Amino acid sequence: MIQAEGLTKRYGETQALAGVDFSVPAGTILGLLGPNGAGKTTAVRVLTTLALPDSGRGTVAGIDVVKHPGEVRRHIGVAAQDATLDPLLTGRQNLVLVGELSDMGRAPARARATELLAQFELTDAADRVLKGYSGGMRRRLDLGAALMTRPPVLFLDEPTTGLDPTSRQRVWEAIRELLGEGVTVLLTTQYLEEADALAHRIVVVDHGKVIANGTPTELKEASRSARLEVSLAAPDTDGRAAGAMAPLVSGRVHVSEDGRRLSAGVDASPGLATAVVRALDAAGVLVDNIEVRQPSLDDVFFSLTGGHIEGEDEDEAIGSAGGAAAASAGGGGKSAERQELEGVRA
Ligand SMILES: Nc1ncnc2c1ncn2[C@@H]1O[C@H](COP(=O)(O)OP(=O)(O)OP(=O)(O)O)[C@@H](O)[C@H]1O
Ligand SMILES: [Mg+2]
Repeated sequence: MIQAEGLTKRYGETQALAGVDFSVPAGTILGLLGPNGAGKTTAVRVLTTLALPDSGRGTVAGIDVVKHPGEVRRHIGVAAQDATLDPLLTGRQNLVLVGELSDMGRAPARARATELLAQFELTDAADRVLKGYSGGMRRRLDLGAALMTRPPVLFLDEPTTGLDPTSRQRVWEAIRELLGEGVTVLLTTQYLEEADALAHRIVVVDHGKVIANGTPTELKEASRSARLEVSLAAPDTDGRAAGAMAPLVSGRVHVSEDGRRLSAGVDASPGLATAVVRALDAAGVLVDNIEVRQPSLDDVFFSLTGGHIEGEDEDEAIGSAGGAAAASAGGGGKSAERQELEGVRA
């Protein structure tokens, strides 16, 4: 229902899209996941006819987005990342306006607006101006506006960014309901949890390129091994604990700064935790806690993107201005930061 084939788009020096391919089968939801600046919004803008690609092809319901933009627009609903509704109009007026701009006619637009306001629990706020809405109420109204014409294909650009957990859950429920009605959805998000909860397939983009494409389960399985985390009663000052653990794990044993937490990649097998506790016990090490953690989508994301954030390169350049030693330690610093992040998530 939605197809991107080799899409590229450059803004000056920035290659926002560097050859992006994905497709969304009818009635399914694709999660387009990526950090800030990855190219998510650019992909959405191209596929919703708001921006022209430099090369490649996009289609919605089989219709080419460059050749027949008007026809594509009749099939789609869009909840953009930046506010598109009028802050000086009420929620109801905004929805009716969206309907009228889509040639709905006033009476059907009013009826549909009332229905959507109720569906998104905005009936009480319907006749208040948007300026006074909370972030969550606005996002729900954005979603309502995208649904005014009952489009079969929806583009939702970060529909829950900045929402509290309750509001996020409500938006998720609304999206699940739409799926039940057979709508096809392209959803962008920075929240792995969101993609995991909603999407049939996930495409991870970074620097304008697709770096992974699969079901949530496939992506988790692809992130290699599980992680073994051990907390010790006392710091491993002489490396005895790390030494006892090493033969049972794959790769290096990472020791936290305070020496109390050891972690390593493992091939999770039954009895592994027991074997590790026995080995540590035999070495005279007292264990506080042991855990074998299956990879989360966060792990996948960090291992794929290197946990980079937009502007990191610049930050590193500033960091390395301190001297040659700092510059040569750049790569090591990054992996240490990643381990740090893994520690935080654990
Ligand atoms: N109109 C524009 N002019 C110049 N550069 C742009 C423009 N739109 C996007 N970019 C650049 O293209 C890159 C991709 O931007 P895009 O908005 O698609 O990212 P995103 O994945 O949606 O990020 P976010 O999660 O922050 O919304 C970024 O480096 C951005 O600065
Ligand atoms: Mg964006």
